[in-house]
Amino acid sequence: MDDVRIALVTGANKGIGFETARGLAAAGLTVLLGARDEARGAAASGEIGAVPVRLDVTDAASVAAAVTRVTDEFGRLDVLVNNAGVLTGWGRPADLTAADLRTSYEVNVFGVVTVTRAFLPLLRRSAGGRIVNVSSGLGSLTLLAAPDAGIPVMSYSSAKAALNGVTLAYAADLRDTPVTVVSVDPGLCATDLNHRTGTRTAADGAAIVVRAALGDSTGRFIGESGEVPW
Ligand SMILES: NC(=O)c1ccc[n+]([C@@H]2O[C@H](COP(=O)([O-])OP(=O)(O)OC[C@H]3O[C@@H](n4cnc5c(N)ncnc54)[C@H](OP(=O)(O)O)[C@@H]3O)[C@@H](O)[C@H]2O)c1
Repeated sequence: MDDVRIALVTGANKGIGFETARGLAAAGLTVLLGARDEARGAAASGEIGAVPVRLDVTDAASVAAAVTRVTDEFGRLDVLVNNAGVLTGWGRPADLTAADLRTSYEVNVFGVVTVTRAFLPLLRRSAGGRIVNVSSGLGSLTLLAAPDAGIPVMSYSSAKAALNGVTLAYAADLRDTPVTVVSVDPGLCATDLNHRTGTRTAADGAAIVVRAALGDSTGRFIGESGEVPW
C-alpha cells in the first residue's frame, strides 16, 4: 500500500477548511480539496498543491460522483474531514420555524451523514481511517445548559449538537474497526461564516482540526485546550 495518506476535506475552498487542507498538505498528505463550486475549488487547490474534487454535501449525485472519482484515482481514503458548514437561521428561538432550521440541518447534519456513508467503504480500506467532524463549542449541550449560558442561535447550536450525536453513533458502530471518529471545536475564528467576527484566525482553528485528523490529539470532542464537554 502506498505510504502517502490521502485526506478529503469538504468545504475547503476557504476558511477553516482551506487552512485545514493547507495544514494536511504541509504534513505530507495527498489532499483532496472538496468544494461545491468547481472554479473556487480549482483556485484554492492551485494555491496549496491539492487535488480539487467537486463536492456539494447536500447533493447526493455530486457526492456519488466524488466517491467514484476517488475510488478510480486513489482506491482508498485515510482521512475524511467533514468541514463544510453554514450558519443560517438567525432569530430568537421562540420566533423560528422548522423551515428556518432546514438549511442548517441539511448542511451541518445530513450533509455529514451523506458524505460519511458514501466514503466509508473507502475509509475501511485504510489501515487506520479517521473521520473528523468539524463541530463547535456552540453545540455542546453541557455548555448550553449552563445557568449563565446566553440565548443560542438555535438553528446552528442544535445542528452541531446533533452532529456530535452523529459522531458518537458512528464511533460506537465502528468501535471494532480501524476507523475512528471524533468531533472538533476549532474555536471562534474570523471567517465568512460569522462575518469575520471571530477572535482567532482560520489557521488557528485549522491547527486543531489538523492535529485531530493526524491523530495527534486525544479525546473524542477535541478543542484548543483538550476535551470539550459534550
Ligand atoms: N468560524 C468559526 O468561528 C467556527 C467555529 C466553530 C465551528 N466552525 C465550523 O467550521 C466549519 C468551517 O466554517 P468556516 O468558519 O471556515 O466558514 P466559511 O469560511 O463560511 O466556510 C464554509 C465552507 O463550507 C462550504 N459549504 C457550505 N455549504 C456547502 C455545501 N452544501 N457543500 C459543500 N460545501 C459547502 C463553503 O463553500 P462556499 O464557499 O461555496 O460557500 C465554504 O467552503 C463549519 O463546519 C463551521 O460550522 C466555525
